[in-house]
Amino acid sequence: MNYIGIDLGTSAVKLLLVDGAGQVKKTVTEEYPLYFPQPGWSEQNPEDWWNAVCVGVKKLLAGEDAAAVAGIGCAGQMHGLVALDAQDRVIRPAILWNDGRTGEEVDYLNNEIGKAVLSARTANIAFAGFTAPKILWMRHHEPENFARIRKIMLPKDYINYLLTGVHSCDYSDASGMLLLDVEHKRWSAEMLEVCGIAEDVMPALYESWQVTGTLCPEAAAALGLPETVKVVAGAGDNAAAAVGTGTVNDGDCNISVGTSGTVFIAADNFRVDPFNALHAFAHAGGGYHLMGCMLSAASCNKWFSDEILRDKDYAALQAEIDPALLGKNRVFFLPYLMGERSPVNDTAARGVFMGMSMDTTRAEMLLAVLEGVAFGLRDSVEVARALGLEISVSRLCGGGAKSPLWQKILANAISVELSLPAAEEGPGYGGAMLAMVGCGAYENVSACAAALVREKGRVAVDPALKAAYDEKYRIYKRIYPSLKELFHAM
Ligand code: XUL
Repeated sequence: MNYIGIDLGTSAVKLLLVDGAGQVKKTVTEEYPLYFPQPGWSEQNPEDWWNAVCVGVKKLLAGEDAAAVAGIGCAGQMHGLVALDAQDRVIRPAILWNDGRTGEEVDYLNNEIGKAVLSARTANIAFAGFTAPKILWMRHHEPENFARIRKIMLPKDYINYLLTGVHSCDYSDASGMLLLDVEHKRWSAEMLEVCGIAEDVMPALYESWQVTGTLCPEAAAALGLPETVKVVAGAGDNAAAAVGTGTVNDGDCNISVGTSGTVFIAADNFRVDPFNALHAFAHAGGGYHLMGCMLSAASCNKWFSDEILRDKDYAALQAEIDPALLGKNRVFFLPYLMGERSPVNDTAARGVFMGMSMDTTRAEMLLAVLEGVAFGLRDSVEVARALGLEISVSRLCGGGAKSPLWQKILANAISVELSLPAAEEGPGYGGAMLAMVGCGAYENVSACAAALVREKGRVAVDPALKAAYDEKYRIYKRIYPSLKELFHAM
């Protein structure tokens, strides 16, 4: 049998057709627009996601036996607010994970309700991208839209709903709403009340590998698949990427360099970061994880290359960087192009270049961008290290992970040996694996990962380069605190 993994990303949906032995037979990518209607806002049309999924699945199945598809597993960008009315129509464009409009609502939650109360109820504090502050924002700024809400969904759950007709959500993705009691895996009645939402507005909760339904007739017709295809609840993209890279055992770490950058540490048992700098979420395998998330990672490279250097050939641009410059660059870059989540939690923060002189080259500035993202990820790794977690090896995935130069920078700037998984499509591959478990091909997620996930290589830490980057990181760490006040004055 075959399985379809769907990764509903921020720039595109990536679809994978995977056979029963775990081989990726085919991949398809369909892009859709991302809207920034005001500075710091970020929205997408859920209809665009669905259209892209329909076009993508048809391309994926061209020349393939559709009857051999047993299951679908969807991974998705987390935290996005998709509000549906009584007829399950989308009320307004989805407000995404990297949207920073909810500064006031975040302050209300963290200061009036209080961080300690939030953490006791949900294991987390409020961050602008989380779903609860967005619901409050809608209530304050769009009361007519808020009054029409009958269902609240996360991005991949809206796709799952169109596939099956079932309103579902899995624990890993639900964790990022600030509405879930993460430890006990149930909606928090107190948090729903804070947001003015009745419990029947929330979707039913499932483990990621559980089957929520089969394809409804409309979806089967739209996709060209039989109605017998099973759909599992799926997972937030980071939990799915962790499954897809085999980050499923206690203490395993995965670093993802996609539009966002994340540091994901799997944990068998529930645990909260006492300072809530790292998110405490459920994992797609049944356990939990701690995670740090930076809002702009590979997107910093995309922005600097596309918009500033006006060149989309990233490999050619990076080839301009003399490898001897690594660890010696005098230019620094603060990668806060959309504000920042972990660990500073500041929607007002912005990107900064520092240290240029008349002889600074564009290669040095590009290198500073790649290094700034690596240092931003290191911030989350350092929080985890301060909690006593040993992080000396990590898996690496995401679009940015494909560049050998960036791999070397990441390994040395973070001081972590990197393990490169053979299947590069972390979240989509994880989605397909969850479908396999749901269809009974494997007993559980760990067994599936042990059977299918393979390493294709490692990137070692070079002691001299690591020492040079440790020096640079000490300076980098001082940039944001020195500018914090100015960001807010701006
Ligand atoms: C995680 C987060 C991002 C998105 C990106 O908390 O906000 O990684 O899931 O798709």
